[in-house]
Amino acid sequence: MQFPPELDPDKIPVHVAIIMDGNGRWAQQRSMPRPLGHKVGVESVQAVVRAADDLNIKVLTLYAFSTENWKRPPFEVNALMGLLKSFLLRELETMLENNVSLRCLGQKDRLPKAVRETLDKVIAETADNDGLIFNLALNYGSRVEIIDAVQAVAHKCEVGELAVDGIDEELFAAHLYTGGLPDPDLLIRTGGEARLSNFLLWQASYAEIYFVDTLWPDFREDDLVDAIRVYQGRQRRFGKTGDQVQQS
Ligand code: FPP
Repeated sequence: MQFPPELDPDKIPVHVAIIMDGNGRWAQQRSMPRPLGHKVGVESVQAVVRAADDLNIKVLTLYAFSTENWKRPPFEVNALMGLLKSFLLRELETMLENNVSLRCLGQKDRLPKAVRETLDKVIAETADNDGLIFNLALNYGSRVEIIDAVQAVAHKCEVGELAVDGIDEELFAAHLYTGGLPDPDLLIRTGGEARLSNFLLWQASYAEIYFVDTLWPDFREDDLVDAIRVYQGRQRRFGKTGDQVQQS
């Protein structure tokens, strides 16, 4: 993709996170079974990963399966796991060619063995790539992530590796699944709902949030460009006044 003239190349968000919603409705509107919406949603994933790379985004995080998604009917969960595995196998070569490194946010142990093994293989084979960092949030829940971090920090205090007074925001953030990565600058949710659904609750504290009605299977490069254009038009204040920000 050519760099779009309507975007400022110096103000590209470093980290973009997306809640990919609306696959089921996309399929239902066409009287198709819900998994077909997920299947077409995979094409949006491919398009957005390529576009993110072309736009010079450094970190892309996609919410692919939440800790709550296990409550869906088994045929839908199985379809999603199958799509995930085939996507990983198919995209490995492209990720290697484009210097993309894949990471997983979430507890991998509950994923089916075949998916876990494929995921581990792609993560290992792309680990040395230093281009786009592509995070897939899988069996991810922000509250579980925060509890995991609390436990890890508490354990270090218990064994005397860390003093309670030594716990600050930076140290805590380093124990989240996103440890070492910058917080998202832009968080997009497709599908018309305006909620965070247990996604990156700590990390999104200062993210610009962009809710859009477009259903995920219809979301393509141009829609990502639109989201970034809106983001670039916003003033990020981080608690300061608008005047202070303008002067800095
Ligand atoms: C939400 O739409 C979407 C999901 C729960 C899964 C997202 C998965 C994909 C896009 C495909 C697999 C992912 C990868 C990375 C290969 P929904 O089903 O809740 O939609 P609805 O709100 O319209 O019912």
